[in-house]
Amino acid sequence: MTHQTNSRIEALRDMAPEARLDRVADAAGLSLHDKLALAGQGALPLDLANGMIENVVGLFDMPLGVAANFTVNGKDYLVPMAVEEPSVVAAASYMARLARPYGGFQASSTLPLMRAQVQVLGVADPEGARHRLLAAADELMALANSRDKVLVGLGGGCKDIEVHLFRDTPVGPMVVLHLIVDVRDAMGANTVNTMAELIAPKVEQIASGTVRLRILSNLADRRLTRARVELPAEALSLDGLNGADVARGVVEACALAIVDPYRAATHNKGIMNGIDPVVIATGNDWRAIEAGAHAFAARDGRYTALTRWEIGAGGALVGTIELPLALGLVGGATRTHPAAQAALKLLNVETANELCQVVASVGLAQNLAALRALATDGIQKGHMKLHARNIAILAGATGPDIDRVAREIVAQGDISVDTAKAVLSGA
Ligand code: MEV
Repeated sequence: MTHQTNSRIEALRDMAPEARLDRVADAAGLSLHDKLALAGQGALPLDLANGMIENVVGLFDMPLGVAANFTVNGKDYLVPMAVEEPSVVAAASYMARLARPYGGFQASSTLPLMRAQVQVLGVADPEGARHRLLAAADELMALANSRDKVLVGLGGGCKDIEVHLFRDTPVGPMVVLHLIVDVRDAMGANTVNTMAELIAPKVEQIASGTVRLRILSNLADRRLTRARVELPAEALSLDGLNGADVARGVVEACALAIVDPYRAATHNKGIMNGIDPVVIATGNDWRAIEAGAHAFAARDGRYTALTRWEIGAGGALVGTIELPLALGLVGGATRTHPAAQAALKLLNVETANELCQVVASVGLAQNLAALRALATDGIQKGHMKLHARNIAILAGATGPDIDRVAREIVAQGDISVDTAKAVLSGA
C-alpha cells in the first residue's frame, strides 16, 4: 500500500531543522538515505556534480524548506521548496492551512503533450506545403515514433501534427511544423528534440524547402495544469479584519493584474515564488517553467495574470490558476540529484501530472498570500519579521536567541545588524 502522508504538522515552524526533518520524514515515511539527502550534507557528491555540468568548481547551497498543510484532490502533501526568499514557505503553508478545512485545492491537467517545432525556409508554395505536410501526418508521426518504443509502449509518443504559416517574416515566408508529443512522466525536451531532428529530412522533402530549427517550444500550451481553491469569507477574517472585505480586496488586487502588465508581472512573480522552489527541489528545469508561464500569460497578445479571484455564490472567495507546466519525474536532474529524488519521495507523487497539480496549487496559495497581505497590511510587516530573523543570525544569534533578538529589533523598529548585535550582547 502506498504511504498516506498527513501534511498537518503542529508547530513545524518552531522546531529546529533537525527535529523538523525528523518529523517530516516520519510523516512521509522516508528512509534514512532520503532523510540524509534532504538534510543536504554531502547529498550531491562533487563527482556527480562534475558529470552534470561543465567546468564545475563546487556546489551552491540553498535553503530547503517544507510547506505543510497542503491537500490537493483530497490527498495530503508535504511540499519541498528550495528558495532563498524569506516568507515564501511560511506563506504557502499558511494559505494551505486556511484552505485545508474546506477541502484544500482541486486540480486537473491535460495530457502531458509537448510541442516541437521544425522551421522550413525557402518554400515556394507555403500553402501547398502545409497541405502536403498535413496529408503526410500519419507517415510523419509514424517516423517520429519509430525510435522510442518505450515511450510508445507506455501510451506516449507523437499524437498530432500542426502546420503554422508565417507569410511575412524578416527572411520571407516560413512554414513551421509542430509535433505534438505525449511525453508521459518526462519533462520531454530530449524526447521531442530527438523526434524533431529525426523527421526533419522528410519534412524538407515534403515541403520542398530547407529545414533550419528543430527544437521544442517552451510555450507548452497543450500541457496545462489547473488548480482551484474556494474559501468562505469568514476563513479570511484575520487580525480583526472582516473576511468579506479581505475577499473583496483580493479580487480588486487581481483585477489590476488582469488589465495592467506592470502589475501582472509582479503578480505572476509572486505565483512563481511558490512554483519555482518546488520545481528546483524536484530537479526540474525552472527556466522552462518560467518561459512557459510568462509566454502563456501573454498568449492573447497582452500580458495578464495567471490567476483569477472571484466572489462566488454565498460570498466565498474562489481562486483559479491555469498554466503550462512541463515537469518530469524521470530523466535529467530528477533522476541524478539525490536530494531531488528524496524531494520527490517526500511529495509522494506517482505521475508527472500529479506533481504539476501540487505545483499549481502551491502557486495559487502563494498568490493568495501575497494578495491578502497587499490588500490589507501590506507585505512589509510579515516580510520584516522574517527578515529580522536573518539579521539576528547575521549578528551571531543562535538557537532561541534568534527569535528573541528578531522580536526585539522589530519592536525597536530598527532591523539592522548593529542593533541585533547590541540586543544580543545585552547592551
Ligand atoms: C515578492 O517576492 C512577491 C510579491 O511582490 C507578489 C505580489 O506583489 O503579488 C509580494
